[in-house]
Order: sequence, then structure tokens, then C-alpha cells
Amino acid sequence: MDLQRTVPWGRDFDEYSEMFSLSSLKAGDTVIGCGDGPASFNAEATSRGICVTSVDPLYTFSRAELEQRIEQARNEVMPQVRAKVDDYIWQTIESPEELERRRMQAMRVFLKDYEEGCRAGRYIAASLPKLPYQDNAFDYGLCSHLLFLYSPQLDEELHIQSVLELCRVAREVRIYPLVSIENNQRSGHLPAVLSALAEVGYHSEEVPVSYEFQRGARAMLRIST
Ligand SMILES: C[S@@+](CC[C@H](N)C(=O)[O-])C[C@H]1O[C@@H](n2cnc3c(N)ncnc32)[C@H](O)[C@@H]1O
Repeated sequence: MDLQRTVPWGRDFDEYSEMFSLSSLKAGDTVIGCGDGPASFNAEATSRGICVTSVDPLYTFSRAELEQRIEQARNEVMPQVRAKVDDYIWQTIESPEELERRRMQAMRVFLKDYEEGCRAGRYIAASLPKLPYQDNAFDYGLCSHLLFLYSPQLDEELHIQSVLELCRVAREVRIYPLVSIENNQRSGHLPAVLSALAEVGYHSEEVPVSYEFQRGARAMLRIST
């Protein structure tokens, strides 16, 4: 896995709740978050009693190293956002300045929780398409801003194997967004992934969600296994 292909950039619990329509998630539910990176979802969910395990190759790094990589990402991402403001819907997040504040706040919450979370086994260094868990180990498998978004970098076969692996370890899988980073259009990998899911008898549907920041990203993929 080449870590240069995706950037460490983290969202917060409220954004995860909206992207994945998580209003029914409750204390005691078990969740695997694939590619959670420096999101504060795990830290905030843990404080609500939800049992989240985050899996990401980034977690081989120390807190200090991650802090440095986050700073680098901030310097790369923010100029790109400002150069392409029309690619985003500035409603809930009203401006690039607010975006930067909100993302940096989420990543500070992550960094504060990181070492304790590693000791508790909540941050695990591993990568799709292979997850170190038994079948049906989790109630929910979530994947935010990795699969489908990075369609040019991650090929079709990796998408198929990764989605099937998520379905192996979780009873229900939710993936957001379904649009590609290159053009904000529906990922070209979706048809092959949907037919691979149908072939093994999983039910999948594209469900509209209330969250839209990247223009056109208005739906998640929900798969019941
Ligand atoms: C853009 S970030 C998204 C972070 C978080 N999910 C969010 O939405 O705020 C993408 C993350 O995917 C991770 N990643 C890249 N390849 C991966 C793989 N094969 N398996 C799991 N995570 C991966 C990266 O390290 C990075 O942290």
C-alpha cells in the first residue's frame, strides 16, 4: 500500500452520522471503520459507549509522526480546496476557513485519543483487502472517503476484494461516497462491485443521505450480508 496515494484527513462523528445515517447506532454496537485515518469518529463514538475498531495502514506511525503528516496534508489539501471551491457545497460547512477549523479540530481529538486507543486495540494497523478478523465479528462495517472516492488509484479488483472482505467481517456494510475524486461522478468501479455482491447473494442498495459536501456525493452503498 502506497500511503502517498491517499491523504490523512479526518472527519468528525457528526459527519460520519450524516454520511452513513447512523441515528440508530447505540451503545454496545460493534463497528469496524476501514480507512478511518485521523478521523475523530472512533474517539467520539467510544465516549458514547459504541465499540469502534478503526483499521488503517497509517496506524503504524507514532503520534508525533502522524501529527507531522497531518500538518503536511493540511498544506496540500487546503490550497486544492480553495482552487476548486465549486466542487463543494458550502452549506453546513460555510467556507474553506470553517472547513480547515473543523477538520483540524477532528484531527486534534483523534491525536489526543490515539495512544490510549492503540493500547485498547481500537486503532489497528492493517489494510484492505485483508482484515485480521473472524467472519461476522462486527455489527457494522463503515468505509468513509476511501473506496470509490479513490477510483483512479485503487483498481476494480481491489474494490471488489475489499468490499467482499468488509462483508465477511460485518453483518452490514456502509460505504460513502460513491463518486470518484477525479470528476465527482459515480465511480466506474460500482457496476463490477454490485455484480460481485449479487453473485454471492448479498443485498445492496444505494441509499440517499442528508450529507453532501463533495458535489454530487449524495448517497451511500448499504449492503446486508
Ligand atoms: C481521505 S482519508 C479518510 C479518513 C476518514 N475515513 C474520513 O472520512 O475522515 C483515507 C484513509 O484511507 C486510508 N487507507 C488507504 N489505503 C487503505 C487500505 N488499503 N486499507 C485501509 N485504509 C486505507 C488512508 O491511510 C487514509 O487514512
